[in-house]
Amino acid sequence: MLDFSLHMPTRIVFGRGEVEKAGAEAAKIAGKAMIVTGRTATKKTGVLDRVVKSLEGAGVEVVVYDRIEPNPRTHTVDEGGRIAREENVGLIIGLGGGSPMDAAKAIAAVAMSGHPSHWYIGGNKTGKWQDLLPVQEALPILTIPTLAATGSEANSGSVLTHEETKEKGGMSGPALFPRIAIIDPELTYTVSPEYTADGAVDMFTHLYEAYLTGEEDARVQDHITEGLIRAAVENGPIAVKEPQNYEARAALMWASTLALIGLPNAGRGGAFPVHAMEHTLSAFYDISHGRGLAVLTPAYFERVAADRPHRLARLGRNVFGIQEADDRAAAEQTIAAVVNWFQSMNVHVKLSDLGISRDSLAEMAAEAVRVGGRGAGFIHATRQLNDKEVLAIYE
Ligand code: NZQ
Ligand code: ZN
Repeated sequence: MLDFSLHMPTRIVFGRGEVEKAGAEAAKIAGKAMIVTGRTATKKTGVLDRVVKSLEGAGVEVVVYDRIEPNPRTHTVDEGGRIAREENVGLIIGLGGGSPMDAAKAIAAVAMSGHPSHWYIGGNKTGKWQDLLPVQEALPILTIPTLAATGSEANSGSVLTHEETKEKGGMSGPALFPRIAIIDPELTYTVSPEYTADGAVDMFTHLYEAYLTGEEDARVQDHITEGLIRAAVENGPIAVKEPQNYEARAALMWASTLALIGLPNAGRGGAFPVHAMEHTLSAFYDISHGRGLAVLTPAYFERVAADRPHRLARLGRNVFGIQEADDRAAAEQTIAAVVNWFQSMNVHVKLSDLGISRDSLAEMAAEAVRVGGRGAGFIHATRQLNDKEVLAIYE
């Protein structure tokens, strides 16, 4: 096990109907709040109204910024930051999936600093990001997830896309940890089967990437990771078929929060090469993040089966019940079991199914290595993946 320092400062309020506590919690922090949310879902489901009423009932003045697109863009965030400054709000509330929650965090930083959000993300095309990382100052943040996937509700990351340069990059830092996450699994009842499946794949990927690429002797971490993956594997297909199954929704919600809160990987390290490859896909083609990961996973696992078969074999044995003693054969059986799981949620697809043509693959591979491969981003086992290998995975 590697040495580590772990900080998980977000207070978590979890359970049925807990969204009604938004007002009381917000009132402890500020007298005026901005709710940052998506364009459609939270209005259609009525949850935006519920949160506004809860805040107003607790005496908190509300500004609603409802323009966040899936895969949030830097200019949308900058406009939100400008309004938050102008309105002098003291709290930013991210209400929705990962996109509105990420946007809320970035708005909290932009509102505080006055810097445009593209300064915080991406590679050298957009300039000064390295001067501003990690983010040390932001308005207080409260999150209310409505979709189980990213874990953004309780971590310090935010992923934004710079539309002109097609860079999708992350900003992070201690100031971006939400003070509170109010996690009400009932809010996810309305998530479509497609996004439910994409979310299950996203949390699975958050868990397997460091498990396959990081320190090998991390015994507690391996058990935590395998347990959380089992929760995703068991409950994803249930929630796809029975959207109002509370226990399945609650299991997915809690597994997705824990997957990216820092706990499973503390003492293990590891990298996120599949995420780096996916972020370039969704930057170029605006596809669902989880769907992109579902395309890349089986191809990436073939690379792992060649380079580190014992880790994939262990995943197969401890999560998918594979009995095979030979590591290489067990690794191949693990890939088949994962594909089978994806098929059970109708999420086993190819890039061509998502409208992505072969012509753009080489450009995207080079870009993924440039933007995502900074630092340790692309370390796979003991070395960096190069653009030829990334291209082979895309193909
Ligand atoms: O667009 P709206 O109206 O908000 O509707 C959304 C969107 O169409 C809808 N939705 C959300 N909650 C719903 C619902 N529909 C019905 N009922 C509900 N309760 O679902 C669609 C997808 O929403 P989105 O927020 O885009 O999805 P997700 O949670 O998967 O977030 C994806 C974004 O998060 C980033 C991704 O790159 C992507 O930009 N990530 C953030 C991470 C983090 N902060 O830690 C880590 C992740 O790896 C990821 O990169
Ligand atoms: Zn992800």
